[in-house]
Amino acid sequence: MTHIQPPPNHIAQNAHSPRKTVLAAQRLTKRYGARMAGGVTALSDVSFGIFQGELISIVGPSGCGKSTLLRALAGLTRPTEGTLSIDGEPLRGPSSKAAMVFQQPVLLPWRTIIENVLLPIEFRALPIAPHRERAHALLHKVGLEGFENRYPYELSGGMQQRAAIVRALIQEPQILLMDEPFGALDAMTREQMTLDVLALWMETGKTIVFVTHSITEAIFLSQRIFVMTARPGRLTAIIDVDLPFPRTLDLVNTQRFGAYAAQVRTLLNAQGDLS
Ligand SMILES: Nc1ncnc2c1ncn2[C@@H]1O[C@H](COP(=O)(O)OP(=O)(O)O)[C@@H](O)[C@H]1O
Ligand SMILES: [Mg+2]
Repeated sequence: MTHIQPPPNHIAQNAHSPRKTVLAAQRLTKRYGARMAGGVTALSDVSFGIFQGELISIVGPSGCGKSTLLRALAGLTRPTEGTLSIDGEPLRGPSSKAAMVFQQPVLLPWRTIIENVLLPIEFRALPIAPHRERAHALLHKVGLEGFENRYPYELSGGMQQRAAIVRALIQEPQILLMDEPFGALDAMTREQMTLDVLALWMETGKTIVFVTHSITEAIFLSQRIFVMTARPGRLTAIIDVDLPFPRTLDLVNTQRFGAYAAQVRTLLNAQGDLS
């Protein structure tokens, strides 16, 4: 661990961020398969705390365990060792407090957009009617008004991913876990979606954990960047990104931004394994 700093002052000043830890990992290790039989240690001894309302990015080379970490935080995979807690409670499985957005939108092709958005509500046997209204409002907000009754194949990749984000938001989770959500999109769409995530965060104050392998995206979005290294996946540094919000794209061309990019790149290069 290079350095762990307390969160910067602007988090404390941020109205929606009292310093309450909402996600905590302690000495997390995840192995796939048996150690003796050539199993893979995807995560090794990872510890951190994430405060309520924080916007965090996780960067690291391909295969360093980013998805494994996010799935563990979502309660979708159990750590081999170590503990995880969400909102002060031990995490034992998927929680309605956290919702996941995957790299692929994973919409069911035989269901319309609104039916896809309402899936988690059906799974939890919650009343459909009030959530249908909420789904309409959210779809409207992300520019999908009029597409409620279309099928996924009728939408562009970016629109499908917006629908997947709405599906994650439908249950009003405190925490949004996003695993390279725009990795499959073209550069322009990706840039716009990144700005939209920032706007969503500014507006709702949700805790967002955003996995990316783009250094630029990580710096642009985050208050803190978790830098991971490969084999076995470790958390090697946590960087405070002390750049003011709201942020606009011209920030990327500033000297301070460049300095952060150089810092992250050096940490990743030190591993000699950049994706
Ligand atoms: N279900 C699985 N079974 C076995 N090995 C896995 C599984 N999921 C991931 N791995 C391995 O664990 C390591 C970390 O994978 P992953 O978390 O997907 O990394 P990242 O998201 O950073 O690319 C990789 O070596 C990968 O091959
Ligand atoms: Mg991954």
